[in-house]
Amino acid sequence: MTEGMALAEALTVEHRAIDDGIEAFLGDEGDPQALRDAMLALRRHIYLEEVFLFPPLKPTMMMPIFVMLREHGELWRAMDGVDAAVTAGEDADAACRDLLVLLDEHNKKEEPIVYPRADADLDDEVRAELADFLRDGTYPEGWVCEQA
Ligand SMILES: [Fe+2]
Ligand SMILES: [Fe+2]
Repeated sequence: MTEGMALAEALTVEHRAIDDGIEAFLGDEGDPQALRDAMLALRRHIYLEEVFLFPPLKPTMMMPIFVMLREHGELWRAMDGVDAAVTAGEDADAACRDLLVLLDEHNKKEEPIVYPRADADLDDEVRAELADFLRDGTYPEGWVCEQA
């Protein structure tokens, strides 16, 4: 995370980077490493949201967070489908396109509704934890999201 960047902005930058990685795989170059990196980045992104961001927002945003958690479950299963296709040496393009559609639907709600509250509502300690994780955090091996 770039110093001085608002959390909302830093989290939105991650969304775009993940989209770009999947699109690099679907493009003419068919970059498989870009896809692997994007899948790791998306799992890590979901981890940071469910572990650091959502719990303190939950009391005041019960419904939006509930929807976000449900959609994370859909995203997680879609990623499992992409990984399974890649591992089996099958064509993963259709699974990647489906994942991009799910991501678009998720991000266009999360960015305007949830992210502004990350900067407005979180206390300094949580914001510092989140900023640290954004910089160089890794999620625990084998972790799965709440509704996977
Ligand atoms: Fe999310
Ligand atoms: Fe997100």
